[in-house]
Amino acid sequence: MNQPKDLPPATDLHLASRLAEIEPFHVVTLVTRAIELQSQGRDIVNMVIGEPDFPTPPAVVRAGIEALRHSQIRYTPSLGSTDLRGKLRGWYQGRYGIDVPESRIAVTSGSSAALLLTMGVLLSPGDEVMMADPSYPCNRHFVRAMEGRALTVAVDADTGYQLTAELIEKHWSPRTVAVMVATPSNPTGTLIPPDEMKKMHAVVRRKGGVLIVDEIYHGLTYGFDAHSALEFADDVFVINSFSKYFCMTGWRLGRMVMPQAYVPHIEKLAQNLYISNSDVAQQAAIAAFDAETLELLEENRAKFQQQRDYLLPALRDLGFDIPVEPQGAFYIYANCSRFTDDSFVFCRDLLENAGVAVAPGIDFGQHHAAQHVRFSYPKPVPVLQEGVRRLREYIKA
Ligand SMILES: Cc1ncc(COP(=O)(O)O)c(C=O)c1O
Repeated sequence: MNQPKDLPPATDLHLASRLAEIEPFHVVTLVTRAIELQSQGRDIVNMVIGEPDFPTPPAVVRAGIEALRHSQIRYTPSLGSTDLRGKLRGWYQGRYGIDVPESRIAVTSGSSAALLLTMGVLLSPGDEVMMADPSYPCNRHFVRAMEGRALTVAVDADTGYQLTAELIEKHWSPRTVAVMVATPSNPTGTLIPPDEMKKMHAVVRRKGGVLIVDEIYHGLTYGFDAHSALEFADDVFVINSFSKYFCMTGWRLGRMVMPQAYVPHIEKLAQNLYISNSDVAQQAAIAAFDAETLELLEENRAKFQQQRDYLLPALRDLGFDIPVEPQGAFYIYANCSRFTDDSFVFCRDLLENAGVAVAPGIDFGQHHAAQHVRFSYPKPVPVLQEGVRRLREYIKA
């Protein structure tokens, strides 16, 4: 087809400079390839994607269907429906014994939107957000998308792959405005002990910055419940979601608790960026707090623990080095240097030749990335066993 004369050729794109610094999410590329192989009839053991394989709890589905049948699906307030924010207040009271006023709670389109809004209100061009390397890949890109800079700090097994008060103190720069942590962490499944979190909060506060704590994997800790940063601070941003514990990834519903003074700013940005969250998803999520649902989610939690308890020793037996036991989320971050000096090539090869999909370290940062892979284990144990069998064959070959 001929291009009209007054239009630039299709290849002459006007790409924003920030795009050069936003990397692809390799996990998604591998998932796409895994799906492609499956559609060609290959059986793939998928340990790459970070989502529960349990369905959305039935009471939530029923509430969603009811909403579609009986209510007009409309815009809701930008910070979320009053009903759902009320439920979330009750959740914080019941789970953590803390009273968070509804006015500080925002419902968002996945916690992804909560993270984006937080960056949107905190960052001016060039401001830095400190975060661990390795950590959740999108974080550094949320920062970049809002014209900030990710200040990544290499962390190792000695700190449980987490930032510490000492590291924050050491790496803080005049441009640092915030520190972002996730506990439990993606990709390592490790937690920040409550005492350390208090120290980190004290350092950030003394420096005049803001602490952002991603608690999206709360509820998915094994043998104990995690503490929320909200138990001792009300000047932190606490990010959470319905995606993981509540098994609602595809409903795109997240939430955050913010310091009171930031509420109008977050609200203004949410109004402009997306007006409101999905009304259906919010109505459905009301049932996420029913006793029936919570019982089911606790059964799921026990299954996740069984899956971890199978996979962790099995991977160590194969020769993967996993120095810190992951106590939460559903990930195992493993050193694979006994088998490869390039974990990306290893992952690609493993998928193509052994039918096992795992995530390469490069997604989560730069620090020893080529020596690490992430296993995502929310799969029935027999599926994990098959994955381990294939890995053993592949490694032997
Ligand atoms: C640590 C962490 N934060 C945030 C997210 C975003 O999740 P969602 O937008 O589904 O709530 C993820 C997704 O995997 C994650 O691992």
